[in-house]
Amino acid sequence: MDPVRRVLTGMRTTGQLHLGHYVGALKLWLDAVNEGYDCFFLLADVQALTTHADRPEMIRQSVRDVVLDWIAVGLDPTLPNVHFVLQSGVSARFEISQYLLMIANLGEIQRNPTIKAEMKEMKNPSMGFLTYPIDQAADIYMLSPELVPGNELLVPVGEDQVPHLEYSRVLARRFNKAYKTRVFLPCRAKVGEIGRLVGVDGQEKMSKSKGNAICLNDPPEVVSKKVMSMFTDPNRLKATDPGTVEGNPLFIYFDAFATDKDEVEKYKRLYRLGQIGDVLLKRRLAEILNEMLIPMRERREVAEKTDVVEHVLRGTSEASVIANEVLARMKEAMFLF
Ligand code: TRP
Repeated sequence: MDPVRRVLTGMRTTGQLHLGHYVGALKLWLDAVNEGYDCFFLLADVQALTTHADRPEMIRQSVRDVVLDWIAVGLDPTLPNVHFVLQSGVSARFEISQYLLMIANLGEIQRNPTIKAEMKEMKNPSMGFLTYPIDQAADIYMLSPELVPGNELLVPVGEDQVPHLEYSRVLARRFNKAYKTRVFLPCRAKVGEIGRLVGVDGQEKMSKSKGNAICLNDPPEVVSKKVMSMFTDPNRLKATDPGTVEGNPLFIYFDAFATDKDEVEKYKRLYRLGQIGDVLLKRRLAEILNEMLIPMRERREVAEKTDVVEHVLRGTSEASVIANEVLARMKEAMFLF
């Protein structure tokens, strides 16, 4: 039998997407679609509730915004191998999640580096937050193909998701062992060359809530303004000072977004020599970004006039068919009725 070539991945629906999402994850998703994988893209509204339970209307709005962002970058839900899935809409997923909770333990969550980092910024995390890595394992394994090597579900994600995927592999193996079964096939992670993008302020991670993000639907003037305010080499006071390229957000962005690598090399050389100014480089970067965003703006404009909900309903019911089968196998293995 031909191997199952399936992708499951997702994003929280907590706001509009930005360039960090694009280079960190969405580009990998586009590759997977082009390579012919059967792709399930999850609108993680349940996971959004783990941190934004008090703002359900924002999450609802964000589901639509994220769908439009996805279509804007070129994910086309009218293709037969592209399914947009609403996490809260797959009821079998909640059952799978609950059963996985029984074989997970607290210490594992407390050691998870992504959880640790996120908790630092939270006052009083909800129980839903603490258990979200297990819930995320349910997202992945609700589509688990048969345990045959080569069938591994591929999960293209940004770097911060890797601990969760590692953990989901532990849970898959543990479940199989505990219930002497072969229900779950541990998934395979895929991280891009640029796992995470720095913010325009030079902070480690671009994030809308930190106010250092360039959003995919920012108008051209806003993109330019943000680029012009970008953090560069703090030790360089004038254009004739030799500058540092390594770790300089300006060049991180050039590397991430410029298609002409020779052009970038030239800028790096001149920058190190103190022969090119920040302002000129920023103008050029803004131009490159805006050029990249033009087709995205066009696709968004068309999609905005259509009923995107229809795609989500279809994708969700397609995922539910598979999830129901997985749940049935799981319950059988657990001697549940
Ligand atoms: N945790 C991911 C994020 O923060 C979203 C997500 C939910 C996900 N379920 C997933 C990613 C399953 C990969 C696989 O954006």
